[in-house]
Amino acid sequence: MRYLVAANWKMNKTVGETLEYLDRFLPSVKDLLSVDIMIAPPFTALSSASIRLDAAKKEGEYNVKLGAQNMYYVEKGAFTGEISPVMLNELDVEYVILGHSERRHIFGEKDDLINKKVITAVETGIRPILCVGETLEEREQGKTLSVVERQIRNGLAGVEKDMAFIDIAYEPVWAIGTGVNATPEQAQEVHRFIRSLINEISKGNDSNTRILYGGSVNEKNARDLIKEPNVDGFLVGTASLDPERFYKIITEV
Ligand code: G3P
Repeated sequence: MRYLVAANWKMNKTVGETLEYLDRFLPSVKDLLSVDIMIAPPFTALSSASIRLDAAKKEGEYNVKLGAQNMYYVEKGAFTGEISPVMLNELDVEYVILGHSERRHIFGEKDDLINKKVITAVETGIRPILCVGETLEEREQGKTLSVVERQIRNGLAGVEKDMAFIDIAYEPVWAIGTGVNATPEQAQEVHRFIRSLINEISKGNDSNTRILYGGSVNEKNARDLIKEPNVDGFLVGTASLDPERFYKIITEV
């Protein structure tokens, strides 16, 4: 399995800043082909980033894919403010982050909506990264594994057979943007659980599914986290906003 290191820029970077970033970042990862790299800029910068990545690919060997941070689950229609999978396909977006904790907790997304999005992503050939993770309160109540299990079973209902085309990101809510990452042991415990769960629900068809860790990943803790047998890459927020820091994290994988 090829590991995946993905950047989730969240609501950061204008078009100009995106292009400036790519100008610095792309030369550093030219020929770095042993790991999959994905960048998810905000929607407004996707088109420019897509053109820039396309040009880079024509110039040489690049392994950087484009991702979206969200999408709606229908093709078109009266859904003010939403972005459809067809629009993402047009820009060669290959990944979509779904069910991020900020979508769940700030924007109220529930498992059944996230599930519809995951199904549509799979159907339209955009590889979903389903995010799951417990809050601090849930962890303290000993509910971590049951919360993660519910989010995975509900989020993947109906697409269990398509597991090879789906990645999972474990992002404990208490570790996101806080500077407090899960310890390698804490991450491994949940990742091991997720691996056995997706193996069961996919009937063994999970060997292409990466289980990413996300939550305060940086260039200092990446090496220890990736040593864990069930950590197959990262979904990086804050540290991915700087091209040099993101590059360093990739080189630790
Ligand atoms: O999706 C990535 C994320 O939520 C982690 O953010 O800033 O803790 O790396 P951060």
